[in-house]
Amino acid sequence: MDNKQIIVGNWKMNSSIDEAKALINELTNANIGMADVIICPSYHLLNIVNETISNSNIKLGAQDCHYELKGAYTGDISPEMLKDVGCSYVILGHSERRKNHFETNYLISKKAKAATASGLTAIICVGETKTERDEGKTSESVSKQVKFSLPKEFNAENIIIAYEPVWAIGNNVTPSEEQIDEAHKAIRDAIKILKDEETANKIKVLYGGSLNADNASKILAISGVDGGLIGGASLKGQDFITIINNTKKQ
Ligand code: PGA
Repeated sequence: MDNKQIIVGNWKMNSSIDEAKALINELTNANIGMADVIICPSYHLLNIVNETISNSNIKLGAQDCHYELKGAYTGDISPEMLKDVGCSYVILGHSERRKNHFETNYLISKKAKAATASGLTAIICVGETKTERDEGKTSESVSKQVKFSLPKEFNAENIIIAYEPVWAIGNNVTPSEEQIDEAHKAIRDAIKILKDEETANKIKVLYGGSLNADNASKILAISGVDGGLIGGASLKGQDFITIINNTKKQ
């Protein structure tokens, strides 16, 4: 990855094989050289998306992985398997997994350790709930998640952080530019304490949560925002292309 902003499409539990092929073809036919683009489809699509992106600069990621490399873990997938199918990224600790699968910071750090040891870049999600925001605990909440979700071995190359306020996901509400800036600063401050100032400045911090074709130019222009993690709008070809075309070179 170079110094372009990073745009990650998190397809969540959506899309058939035919829909995936059509969407990727729409992206590869468009002029989307402005950003580093990563597509994270569901597991059944990884192989077909990998084939469909083969002549493009789009990279492949998954939405989760286990912390073991293999074994008796029914229904799970390992980082080595993701590498095998062509992934170079994996999203970890998304709030939907923290909530629906009771994932803790500690579990996420174990997954991130295994993922990075396998050569994947882990995109680790952090973000405050509505209650935490209302109680003025946003910085405290994201700092704590950064502190305990990152593996000790992290550096600016093997980890990307996505700031995703839980209350902003999938509902067309976004924080103000000041609120995004403040949370990103809290994340970088936490990295500085864990590691050093250079890593804190270098590490990529994305924004996610109702980022769409209408607000992309405003959000992606905020200094310290290194790109976006996009859910709903990443499933709509033209909207996703518009978001990519609103990225800026760092
Ligand atoms: P959204 O999802 O863009 O649909 O809000 C973002 C995410 O959950 O990663």
